[in-house]
Amino acid sequence: MSVREIKENIFWVGAVDWNIRDFHGYSTNRGTTYNAYLIKDEKIALFDTVKRNFRDELLFHIKELTEPEKIDYLIVNHVEMDHSGSLPEVIDLIKPEKIFCSKNGKQAMLDHFHREDWPFEVVKTGDTISLGKRTVTFIETPMLHWPDSMFSYINEDKLLISSDAFGQHLATAERFADEVDQCDLFQEATKYYANILMLFSPNVQRLLAKVGELGIEIEMIAPDHGLIWRENPGIIIEAYDKWSSHTLCNKALVIYDTMWHSTELMARAICSEIAAAGVETKMLNLKVNHRSDVMTEVLDAGALVFGSPTLNNGMLPPMADFLTYLKGLRPKNQVAAAFGSFGWSGEAVKHINGYLEEMGLDLAHPGLRVKNVPREEDFAACRELGAAMVKAIRKTT
Ligand code: FEO
Repeated sequence: MSVREIKENIFWVGAVDWNIRDFHGYSTNRGTTYNAYLIKDEKIALFDTVKRNFRDELLFHIKELTEPEKIDYLIVNHVEMDHSGSLPEVIDLIKPEKIFCSKNGKQAMLDHFHREDWPFEVVKTGDTISLGKRTVTFIETPMLHWPDSMFSYINEDKLLISSDAFGQHLATAERFADEVDQCDLFQEATKYYANILMLFSPNVQRLLAKVGELGIEIEMIAPDHGLIWRENPGIIIEAYDKWSSHTLCNKALVIYDTMWHSTELMARAICSEIAAAGVETKMLNLKVNHRSDVMTEVLDAGALVFGSPTLNNGMLPPMADFLTYLKGLRPKNQVAAAFGSFGWSGEAVKHINGYLEEMGLDLAHPGLRVKNVPREEDFAACRELGAAMVKAIRKTT
């Protein structure tokens, strides 16, 4: 990819990772980008860097614009390795006059790279620096999504460099959101929110309020992953407002795994009953749906039904995997229930209910167990569970 001027004398100089397919447990089927930005003013400033193995791509782009040694300031908005892995080599090369970061950012860099000699300059929300014609205002965004995270706002250009927030894992040759297929874009933006930011939704709400209080006018949002929001950046801000307020739809998910298809037969009966009531319903087998894709569906679902047969006195491993992942991302407001077949002991439903209670989800049904293969009366019980979900489903739209 080549350098792209996103505003006058402000350039994208990042890297495109077309091949990554796993991002610490999140399936990145369309790859991703590590965005870095360079501003040429009286001072030359580089905002963020890239993953270590993309260092040469970053430097290649920088060299199209300036000699790296001429960069005066380095702004580190976030220290996670996908943005900082190349920092030691980049800093050794450019020898910046100052490295601007949050207080937590300085500590995170010390913890990662052990370089006390770097010229750290700690900033906090509202602090500004001048690049010449331009002013950079810093906004700390702790736990969006690390303690060190911050935004950089370029006042004169009304440009928000937003670190991980408002990003998407989407590798493209294009750089602007308005240049790509909007369904793909929003599918990836939704997946990114559900899998990375959902648990920090209260922080997102506070941030949106803070941006309102600061009276910041935003013409463009440049995140550290994916496409830049050039036309109507308000659309992704509105989406974040909706997602972070846990807005739920008239939608139910039957999430399950199965051994000899008995639990799957139960899933079908439950799903049919819910769908017959006019509720959007999806069956998601955890053997064929990646946890991060299921999580994307969970984001706005009003009801969640989980099914697993019993294996070795517990649930099947893919269900334990998914419930652990789901618990970490802190779903809120949904109603839920559990079901599953068993041969002799039948603890899976009890264990699933334990997870649901720990997550604080409301149980719409005490749980349904079927011995071996469902009989007609068992299907009737599945339909009753489905009816209970329909009655309890929580919609906040
Ligand atoms: Fe893209 Fe939190 O790193």
